[in-house]
Amino acid sequence: MSWSATALTLFPEMFPGPLGVSLAGKALANGTWSLKAVDIRGYAEGKHRNVDDTPAGGGAGMVMRVDVLARAIDAALADEPKGRPVLYLSPRGPRFAQAFARELSEGPGAIFVCGRFEGVDERIFAARDVREVSLGDFVLSGGELAAMAVMDACVRLLPGVMGDAESHAEESFENGLLEYPHYTRPQNFEGHEIPAVLNGGHHQNIRDWRRARAEDITETRRPDLWAAYAARRDADTQKPAKGRKV
Ligand SMILES: C[S@@+](CC[C@H](N)C(=O)[O-])C[C@H]1O[C@@H](n2cnc3c(N)ncnc32)[C@H](O)[C@@H]1O
Repeated sequence: MSWSATALTLFPEMFPGPLGVSLAGKALANGTWSLKAVDIRGYAEGKHRNVDDTPAGGGAGMVMRVDVLARAIDAALADEPKGRPVLYLSPRGPRFAQAFARELSEGPGAIFVCGRFEGVDERIFAARDVREVSLGDFVLSGGELAAMAVMDACVRLLPGVMGDAESHAEESFENGLLEYPHYTRPQNFEGHEIPAVLNGGHHQNIRDWRRARAEDITETRRPDLWAAYAARRDADTQKPAKGRKV
């Protein structure tokens, strides 16, 4: 069965949106993954089918109703494939990262709850197993774009989605480093040359140069990543080599 994404949203027409083109779009068309956009309003009751209500205690905005959301989540969980995690896109959640994209891509898929208004009634987290995920420290108008970003990061890791030419083994975050810089023709652009080592054809020198640049860039731009990488590297160099007697 293919990797399966369900988006619970008030705007199902937003999907697949950008996921319908390029790598993700091709993979969607050939069945490597599937996407269902479900209108949360379909689980609302009453004449007006209200999905939101005023915040308890007063204040600005509206809050998505827990009963409506719970019915939408239950229906998605009852769908195949079973065992998919339920993610609520939320600025309060832990920041989405490559390691989680990889973990999700190795599972059956995910159910994405896309918030609107001020967000969801907090009791959904006590009533259902819902994990919060943030795209970053900023506020979007709704969870749909965040859900699409998470889906895209997962789908491109599915087997067969990227060819060799687009291999992700050396991409940013895969080995704890940001990626090295890329160059292509022309050789000279307004006086800026492609670094000579990349034209030399010496594969080991090119690998060494790329690794050194990736380390420089990570150390300068992301001290958090650099500290974790350096600690792992130091721990590795202290391990006895395989087969060596100590
Ligand atoms: C206007 S926002 C609500 C923001 C909320 N009142 C707060 O201050 O945290 C509406 C919805 O957009 C989504 N959203 C906003 N920012 C996000 C982010 N950084 N990451 C993931 N989802 C986000 C969430 O689903 C949220 O319920």
